[in-house]
Formats: sequence, C-alpha cells, structure tokens
Amino acid sequence: MNILLLGSGGREHALAWKIAQSEKLSKLFIAPGNAGTTKNGINIPINPCDFEELKTFTIENSINMIVVGPEDPLVKGIVDFFNNDPMLRDVIVIGPDKAGAQLEGSKDFSKKFMEKYNIPTASYKSFNSDELEDAITFLETLNAPYVIKADGLAAGKGVSICNSLEDAKEELNQMLVEHKFGSSSDKVVIEEFLKGIEVSVFVVTDGDNYIVLPEAKDYKRIGEGDTGPNTGGMGSISGVPFADADFMGKVKTRIIEPTINGLKSEKIDYKGFIFIGLMNVDGNPYVIEYNVRMGDPETESVVPRIKSDIIDMFEHIGSQTINEYNLQIDQRFVASVMLVSGGYPEKYEKGHKIDCLDNINDSIIFHAGTSVDLSEGHIKTNGGRVISVSSYGNTIEEALTKSYKNAEKIQFEGKYYRTDLGKDLI
Ligand code: AMP
Ligand code: GLY
Repeated sequence: MNILLLGSGGREHALAWKIAQSEKLSKLFIAPGNAGTTKNGINIPINPCDFEELKTFTIENSINMIVVGPEDPLVKGIVDFFNNDPMLRDVIVIGPDKAGAQLEGSKDFSKKFMEKYNIPTASYKSFNSDELEDAITFLETLNAPYVIKADGLAAGKGVSICNSLEDAKEELNQMLVEHKFGSSSDKVVIEEFLKGIEVSVFVVTDGDNYIVLPEAKDYKRIGEGDTGPNTGGMGSISGVPFADADFMGKVKTRIIEPTINGLKSEKIDYKGFIFIGLMNVDGNPYVIEYNVRMGDPETESVVPRIKSDIIDMFEHIGSQTINEYNLQIDQRFVASVMLVSGGYPEKYEKGHKIDCLDNINDSIIFHAGTSVDLSEGHIKTNGGRVISVSSYGNTIEEALTKSYKNAEKIQFEGKYYRTDLGKDLI
C-alpha cells in the first residue's frame, strides 16, 4: 500500500509515525510534511490544496490511499475531485466529501444540521452582512458572555466570546461589516454560552457504521490557568476521567448516532473522521462544534493509544466494514505538552536551532513547526507550535511528569510551554 498523507503539523507527524509502523505499508509520502515526518516517509513539496499536482503525483507514484490531515482540502472538495476522475476513482481518500465537510466549513450548516436531527447544542441564530441591526437586537435579548462565530473557516480564530454587550456589538460590526475574516464572516452565528468542561470525541465512520477512538482534552489558551488568547492548542491529554461509561453512553445515543443517521439521511458520503467538540454541562453532552478531521494537538495523545494497525482501519473505511475492524486501545493515559515559539500566538520568530531532541527515550517526540536547515544540517523552528512531547503513564500525573521532564530538556530560543496541563482533570 502506497500512502500519501497531507499536512505538515504535529497531527500529521503522529499519523505518519503510526502509519509507518504498519506492515501493510510500502511507501509513505507526506505533502508537505515537516522535519519529523522525514523519519517516517518522504516529504514532497506539494500544497495539499493543489489537487492537479496531487493527481499527477498520485498517478506517477501509484498511490493507493490519501489520508487528509487538515480541513482545507476537504472543504475545498478533494474527495469529490478524486471520486469524479476516472483515473483516480480507485484511490481511497480518507475524509468526507465537500457536502460533508460543511459540518466544519459552515457553522450555520452545522447548527441547522443539529437542529434538524435533534442533537443537543447551544441555541442560536444566524445573520448575514445586511442584517447587522437584527443581529444587535438579538444580542440585546441575551446575557453575557456573548458567543459570536464566523460562519466559515477562519484558521481557528473565528469564535469570539465577549464579556460585555459593547464588545459584542463591536465584534459583530467587525465581522459582518468590516469583513474581519473576509467572506468567512459574511455570515455569523450568535449562540448561547454553555458553561462546563470540554472534551474532544473522535468518531471514525465509513458512512454506514462507526467506531469511537479514545477521547482527549485539549488546552487552547496560551496562559497558565487557561488565560490569554486562544492558540492552535498547547497540549492534550487522552484518557479523560469525566468521560466515563455513563457520559460516553449519552454521547453515543444523543450525539454520535443521530449524527451518522443525519448524514445518511442527507445522502452525504462520509468516510473519515468526525471530531466532535463537546461541552459537558452538568453531566450532559452538548456539541460545541464538529470538525471533519482529527484534532491537533489531540492526535498527539490519541494516536499513541491505538494499538491496532491504522492502515487496516483506513482500509475498513474504504471497504465500508469499519464495524469489523478490531480496534485495540492502550489503557494507559497519554499526556502531550506543546512547546511553542516565544510570542506565539501573536508575532514570533522562526529559524532557531532546536537542540537535545535525541536521546529522549521515555517520550515520543512529534514535530509540528519544524524544518531541516539544509545548509547547516540541523533542525530549526518553523512555526508557532514547534514540538509536541507525548508520554504514557498509568496515571495522568505519571504521563505529565515524563512529558515535562523532556519538555525541559529540549532547547530552542524562546521556547515556552504551559506547566498546568491536566490539573483540571486530576
Ligand atoms: P471553536 O473554534 O468552535 O472550537 O470555539 C473555540 C472555543 O470557544 C471552544 O473550544 C470553546 O472553548 C469556546 N466556545 C465555543 N462555543 C461556545 C459556547 N456556545 N459556549 C461556551 N464556549 C464556547
Ligand atoms: N484542537 C482543536 C482543533 O484541532 O481544532
């Protein structure tokens, strides 16, 4: 099996690491990949949204399967592109078609979907650019904090939580009138604020049946105690104690099953991951958002817990027999700590040499924003999120202790990480 994996972050390095362990693998290519993925396969400099280039590469290199890491290619219709081309039709692409990708690509679509299929979520209303007055009138009927979401993709920055009505009105103006997120904020969703603790649930579906991967909790904000601006994610823990059998039972019957059945009713061709961001409100799950891919940094703690062969899992998606896949899970916890560049998520520097990556044997090192310095031969920083340090433990504390020990060892100028991960779970 020749596989082409799309993406370049920590999620993709974790997937590449796992794919490379499979006996079913002949060749793995990663487009574009990072310094870490060069250990698991061959990086190729193709943009994951350049479908014509991907087509040429797929044909020339006899690729059998494409695993899509990020959401962009899915929202832009990579699955439809491959399915509609007679030369590519036999290639298995892991991900939903363009219609299914709207679950992430349009907040308005996903809210309407949840409403139609009675899936618990915050109550809401949507407004277009020419409805600013109506949107403000609606805001005035709500209480703080106010949750305002750009309809389309906004690189993870499209959600604003405002503590005052003034700020909320200003945010609405910026999104709808000043096009803060370009056309992605031509429409907004205003919704009820849900109070609780979040958990990320990962479903793998072949469009008919599904399995559930281990859940995880991610830490989104830059500062200790979950303060400061949102980031792509500062770390994650898989094995979330409050997501026990009772809670996950509710997630299955109230959320996962109506979601899969809803997709079927809508005649959506969905063969891939559904990442459900949930809020646990007094023991009851509510959907905060759907994503149509794995989470980052959740993948860095979820994938190490999958003991069974991941290519086998992908093949079962392709053959629509996911219910027959023998998913085996490591019962230990995994804690992943993200090392980021100083200044992130605002302005930060790139190109700093990374030291002491070798000789770490009790953690798994997943690269995120890294590249190889071709003239110097060393690995350097190439993004805001740089390295994820993932470790197993029989307890969350044990997993965290190992990750923090190794987070301290790895060196690069401006390195920063949060030291309070998991405290809310212990
Ligand atoms: P999203 O980009 O949809 O993941 O939203 C970013 C973050 O905003 C989420 O992870 C939540 O922490 C928060 N959030 C989004 N919607 C709500 C809501 N209705 N109530 C409370 N928090 C929310
Ligand atoms: N960890 C959140 C995300 O991947 O969107």
